[in-house]
Amino acid sequence: MSRFSLQGRTALVTGGARGCGLAFARGLAEAGANVAIFDVIPPEAEFEAIATECGVRTAYYKVDVSSEESLDAGFGAFQTDFDNALDICVPCAGINRHQPFLEFTYADHAALLGVNVLGVHMTAQRAARQMIANGTQKGSIVLVASMASHIAVRSQLCSAYCGSKGAVRAMCPAIAKELAQYNIRVNSISPGYVRTEMTAAFPHLVEEWKRDAMNGRLAEPEDIMGACVFLASDASSYMTGSDIVVDGGVTKW
Ligand SMILES: NC(=O)c1ccc[n+]([C@@H]2O[C@H](COP(=O)([O-])OP(=O)(O)OC[C@H]3O[C@@H](n4cnc5c(N)ncnc54)[C@H](O)[C@@H]3O)[C@@H](O)[C@H]2O)c1
Repeated sequence: MSRFSLQGRTALVTGGARGCGLAFARGLAEAGANVAIFDVIPPEAEFEAIATECGVRTAYYKVDVSSEESLDAGFGAFQTDFDNALDICVPCAGINRHQPFLEFTYADHAALLGVNVLGVHMTAQRAARQMIANGTQKGSIVLVASMASHIAVRSQLCSAYCGSKGAVRAMCPAIAKELAQYNIRVNSISPGYVRTEMTAAFPHLVEEWKRDAMNGRLAEPEDIMGACVFLASDASSYMTGSDIVVDGGVTKW
């Protein structure tokens, strides 16, 4: 299992205060990485326990990934605090908007793109700059896309969200190509229906989502944690520019 170990590495997860991002932060810490999170809200209590339970260093920075100034301030503080030691970045912060295509407003779509597309791209860019500056040979960026980049989600009205996640998946190989020369790998994860605050807004759809999955259930955030640890670690050293779908088979039948 040594190739899965992240001992001595430093990771940054955006949107790590709860849900999938928090699970990714925990998974990376369980594998041995020091983990910082960027989020607009304070982390859930579970985050505080990670440092002692996993014997790693953790930190929370209040950062809005859709703001260039906020991102730069966060990356600056993180770089100082963690001695310029970034190896792993997981741009996970994301939002959804449930609105009919014909009624979608320009402002709502722009706000969504600011987080889901610009926020991911600019987070990955600033992370890559720090990795190049510190010379890590273990650089790994794991973009969080979605099953919604592969299919029209039958039960939801989320055209802008689907488009934004398609952008994340499409930018992945292009960024990977440019960063390969620095030994930084870039991959994405496409989760299916995961039980988080994002999906809690749709309690009436849960039974339909269960039927959509071959395994008849929603994912818990811990169900997708392993894909992130794998992509962050040397166990995936020959993977770059790829997407891993973790969806209980929703997109495969
Ligand atoms: N839950 C699902 O079914 C599902 C499926 C596929 C993909 N995803 C993706 O996984 C990621 C995490 O989603 P989740 O389900 O855990 O949702 P969530 O709402 O529980 O978590 C999202 C986190 O991102 C943070 N965030 C939002 N806007 C931000 C901003 N501007 N700057 C910094 N942080 C911000 C939120 O505060 C929150 O902590 C998202 O990118 C989402 O699109 C979720």
